[in-house]
Amino acid sequence: MLSDPGQDPTVFWEEFYRTKRTSSTGRASSALQRIASGLTPGRALDLGASHGDDVIWLAGQGWQARGCEISETAIARARARASAHGLENAAQFERCDLSAALPPGEFDLITAL
Ligand SMILES: C[S@@+](CC[C@H](N)C(=O)[O-])C[C@H]1O[C@@H](n2cnc3c(N)ncnc32)[C@H](O)[C@@H]1O
Repeated sequence: MLSDPGQDPTVFWEEFYRTKRTSSTGRASSALQRIASGLTPGRALDLGASHGDDVIWLAGQGWQARGCEISETAIARARARASAHGLENAAQFERCDLSAALPPGEFDLITAL
């Protein structure tokens, strides 16, 4: 995951989302769509989920999808978007720091895009 050398990744990415106010594209990655469209939906984990576009798309395809993300600001936006789509049960988001540990659980698909 990207961060300024020496800077705490939580501080860097919180500032990134708070100050740049990047908005969701509302579209899942085309690579994800190409790959996952041929798979049987199961449990998915997206690492560095940002505003949740990929997780929400997977949930809409029938996956039980979890997004792991270091920024609470991004997570709050992702949760709001999942609710707006009526997918808050199938698209869930949690804070994690991947430099410390991977989220626990078993998954059929893990993405990091
Ligand atoms: C380049 S963005 C990619 C976002 C999204 N996956 C996409 O394809 O648009 C990287 C994402 O990873 C998150 N991230 C960076 N370092 C992280 C870490 N150590 N643990 C968890 N998430 C992290 C950032 O907050 C950011 O949302």
